[in-house]
Amino acid sequence: MKKSHITKAMALAFAASIAVGTAPAVYAADGTAEPKVVYSFDFEDGDVSAFTNRGGDDTTELSASTDASVSGDSALLASGRTESWNGPAFRLDDKLEPFTEYYISAKIKGRYYTGAMMSFQYTVKGETEPKYQNLVQNLNGSDWMSVERIKVSFTDEMEGVYVYFEGGSDDLFIDDFVVEEVPAVEIEQDIPGLAQVFGHDFKVGTSLVPNNFSSRATMDIVEKHYYQSLTCGNEMKPDAVLNKAACQAYVEETGDDTVPQISFSAAKPLLNYCKKNNVPVRIHTLVWHSQTPDWFFKENYADDGKWVSKEKMLLRMENYIKAFFEELVALYPTIDFYACDVVNEAWLDDGKPRSPGEQGSGGSQNSAWVQVFGDNSFIEPAFTYARKYAPEGCKLYYNDFNEYMDGKMNAIIEMAKDFKEKGIIDGIGMQSHLDARQSLDAAFPSVNMYKNALKKYSELGLDIQITELDVTTPENPKSGDFDVQAAYYKGIWDAIYEYKDYVSAVILWGVTDDQSWRGKQYPLLFDADYKAKKAFHSIIEGYEVPAEPPTNPPVTPTEPQPSEPTDDPVDNPDVEVTLLGDANCDGKVTIADSTAILQSIGNPDKYGLSDEGTANADVDGTKGITANDALGIQKYDAKLISDFSELSK
Ligand code: XIL
Repeated sequence: MKKSHITKAMALAFAASIAVGTAPAVYAADGTAEPKVVYSFDFEDGDVSAFTNRGGDDTTELSASTDASVSGDSALLASGRTESWNGPAFRLDDKLEPFTEYYISAKIKGRYYTGAMMSFQYTVKGETEPKYQNLVQNLNGSDWMSVERIKVSFTDEMEGVYVYFEGGSDDLFIDDFVVEEVPAVEIEQDIPGLAQVFGHDFKVGTSLVPNNFSSRATMDIVEKHYYQSLTCGNEMKPDAVLNKAACQAYVEETGDDTVPQISFSAAKPLLNYCKKNNVPVRIHTLVWHSQTPDWFFKENYADDGKWVSKEKMLLRMENYIKAFFEELVALYPTIDFYACDVVNEAWLDDGKPRSPGEQGSGGSQNSAWVQVFGDNSFIEPAFTYARKYAPEGCKLYYNDFNEYMDGKMNAIIEMAKDFKEKGIIDGIGMQSHLDARQSLDAAFPSVNMYKNALKKYSELGLDIQITELDVTTPENPKSGDFDVQAAYYKGIWDAIYEYKDYVSAVILWGVTDDQSWRGKQYPLLFDADYKAKKAFHSIIEGYEVPAEPPTNPPVTPTEPQPSEPTDDPVDNPDVEVTLLGDANCDGKVTIADSTAILQSIGNPDKYGLSDEGTANADVDGTKGITANDALGIQKYDAKLISDFSELSK
């Protein structure tokens, strides 16, 4: 961090010039663009007004203090904190531009010991509950800890966007807080796309988190290499989908605590992108011990409630899975949800179930599912319900890491054989979080061990998907470590290719190293500057590049179209139209009505409309309910028409 500081006034002038788009790019001697400082605070002038206290308590105070500092004499001090999530927050969306990347750098210290994190918060427009994401964890030590050039960005669908510091309840000092604008980057167009090389054999995809969508270069890489499949990094996990306040409100209203209330608001950036760009989605994940709140397993969803009975948990599980698929398909009828991890990580390496207990206060091995069920008997109903409610074409997977370790592999295989006979499973998800270490001999698992797992799973006669591929180097890697990583990636990829007749998708767990959950060990195929790494080049070496990249097949919304119209409301003069277009009779006309119509056509026994719904559904006025009525509602929803009478023009 430079000692001479850029004043806030200068920084504000920079920011203003960005807003009107006149700021010149700053170039280094070699012609590459340099990041540009837009805000810089060293707190020497005593002004801390650009920061607010996060957490809503009135005991925390922010002030400039000379008790500790890195540059000059002062730092920002948050004192009187009572909760770990209280701390200084810097708002981004009222000062900076969406779809632009910024680096955040800062120094942070606890008064006696530093145990902090830097996190990111935003609220999806139209929602009330904010979402959080840890950007840097483990800022632990007895002195100042450094956050260096952590990338953040936001889309125009987000508001209340903050970067904040949290952890412990000790006083926190922040100094030398700097925001820089990352220069716009052109990705390499002169390399073949991964999907172009391999996408004719299996889908190639990646996982993304919401702030990836605001990085143009990241999305350019997705468009070129990973457009055949996207997975939410976190946003479709139970802790993101379950809505605690709504769950508790539902109990208040009805006295029923078996119908979990859900929301896909966190997944919106990914789902909207996939809808717009016709990208198939891998759903991750329905039932997991981790990233699932303990209150989901407690009476009345109370944090301090008693564990519920197995019977009640089965009801919650079924209702959760039912709501999950019904709402997803209703909201996004044109997305191809082609795969779903029904259960994640239920077996330990030795083939035993996890230990019972809470996730939060207990060890990371604990599973609240095992606590309630006593063993792994929760897995089968999860698959049974998923089969019952998943849309057609959505294949069901058991997904796990260390999936090549004997004990775990055997447990998975035994379970999968049984489920296959019962017709409730379609495939195995091999997460493939691998470790290249310092040499091919030390890499774990060995390529042979991994290949053996591919062979064993292929013998099941089920599909295989590689669901979360990443390969770590040692921390602080030397150049040679990237050669080892490249050679190991090649070995693993070639093994997968050898089994291509059994493998239907290969999904990387992220795009660029710096955004990875294991970022300190550089596990992905693109570096922080969006350049293809040695590992990328080694993977494609020796493979032909087909002339045409594969395209995603067009999606027929939900169910097949009818040959015959269903009930003719005109034949039933007793039933009146209450609200034209409101096929599901919920009092409004939305895309869900279109889905209800398509579902009723595809499967009238299961999804038949009520008489009133049938009367409402006939929006094109052509007697009888057809896919054309569903299309009419989609046009209305997309504001292509303002009145259904325009359909008959
Ligand atoms: C990881 C995410 O990438 C992190 O952001 C999060 O903090 C923890 O979970 N196995 C899985 C994924 O099935 O859901 C995990 O994703 C990585 C390990």
